[in-house]
Amino acid sequence: MQVGIDQIGFYTPNKYVDMVDLAHARNQDPNKFLIGIGQAKMSVADQTQDAVSMGINATLRYWNKIDQDKIGLLVFGTESSVDQSKSASLFVKTALKMKPQVRTFEVKEACFGLTAGLMIARDFVRVHPEQTAIVIGSDIARYGINTPGEVTQGAGSISMLVKAEPRIFSLNDGHSAYSEDINDFWRPNNRATALVEGKYSTQVYLDFFTKTFATYKEQKNWHTQDFSSIIYHLPFTKQGLKANRLAVENEDEETTKRLMDNFESSKQLGMNVGNIYTASLYMSLLSLLENAKLAPNSLIGLFSYGSGAMAEFFSGNTIDGYEKQLDIDGDQKLLSRRRKLSIEEYERIFTVGLDLPEDGIVLESDESAGNWYFAGTENNVRIYKQK
Ligand code: HMG
Repeated sequence: MQVGIDQIGFYTPNKYVDMVDLAHARNQDPNKFLIGIGQAKMSVADQTQDAVSMGINATLRYWNKIDQDKIGLLVFGTESSVDQSKSASLFVKTALKMKPQVRTFEVKEACFGLTAGLMIARDFVRVHPEQTAIVIGSDIARYGINTPGEVTQGAGSISMLVKAEPRIFSLNDGHSAYSEDINDFWRPNNRATALVEGKYSTQVYLDFFTKTFATYKEQKNWHTQDFSSIIYHLPFTKQGLKANRLAVENEDEETTKRLMDNFESSKQLGMNVGNIYTASLYMSLLSLLENAKLAPNSLIGLFSYGSGAMAEFFSGNTIDGYEKQLDIDGDQKLLSRRRKLSIEEYERIFTVGLDLPEDGIVLESDESAGNWYFAGTENNVRIYKQK
């Protein structure tokens, strides 16, 4: 029995900053951001979009296409948690009116959180093949105004339906994991923005990639040329490019070209949305599926990295006809509907978003009809509404 991804839903908020504008405002050469970092735009969440609302909106993208009664598990991976105790997934479950018998919880290990959820879902479906699982990754990357990390911010969510005999992507058995207790990037409980040892984090990412990729190939007795594509967690696209260059070192021309071309396809969404932490790797998968021409049963390698740090390499295969399950036009519309912010507007929205609104204040959203948003708190309880 194959188990894997049957549906992928994507959401990103309706505002963005152009990297050329940001470079001018920060007295930087735009090519540093466009080429040196590899980012063109970053989505910006205002106070009415948080991990929960974005996760609901991503799931809504496929919600009416699935058998909702079969859902037995709902896992939410995030590092932009809205509560220290209650899981983000309970808000999602209520908004989507899921049945009370669904097992649901939140997981955390920086950007690795959604991969953890996906692996739990895969194993759950193996044991309960008649049930399905929903896994959501949803995050807002905040480093701060005028920090080196500012150009690597972003906001968005990916939601996936995991089931037996999936129609998009089957997940292979096995994985290679590697973890170390280090301080490359972290966000203490009293902070709304991340702390980061930027250059160090980029080195650890590459080191963990080299280790997990080598171990995985050894475990499976596979070679680099067996992969049709390798995709990455993309904190910014240049980081993935550097890892991909390591992957193709000493490979033949054909393999190098294929892996480089497919990397280009996989980075298109990330380059225009920014880092969405837990969901970033799966936005790379969606981008690859939408922009590359992949034969049925193409072997895709996935590198998941979460600071702190935990990395995993695993793989899966495309399912014949996967294109029919995608909504490429819908994803393009989602990006093109975004309003470009001036740098002053972005800075104001960013600063307001660092704090919760005063209890009892009702927030209004400028999202389009059908989308969910955070409407403020009543007696310190978070309220979510649909436009
Ligand atoms: P910086 O100090 O701005 O960068 O910080 P830089 O001065 O090293 O320049 C960056 C690149 O631009 C360099 O290229 C320059 O040469 C190039 P590289 O040497 O890297 O190939 N450059 C130019 N290129 C073209 N034209 C020009 C030009 N000028 C310079 N004119 C840094 C960069 C990434 C460190 C910073 O943005 C940062 O701290 N970001 C946040 C941390 C991060 O994203 N780390 C990634 C690995 S950790 C991770 O992935 C986990 C994470 O997602 C969190 C989680 O797990 O939850 C972050």
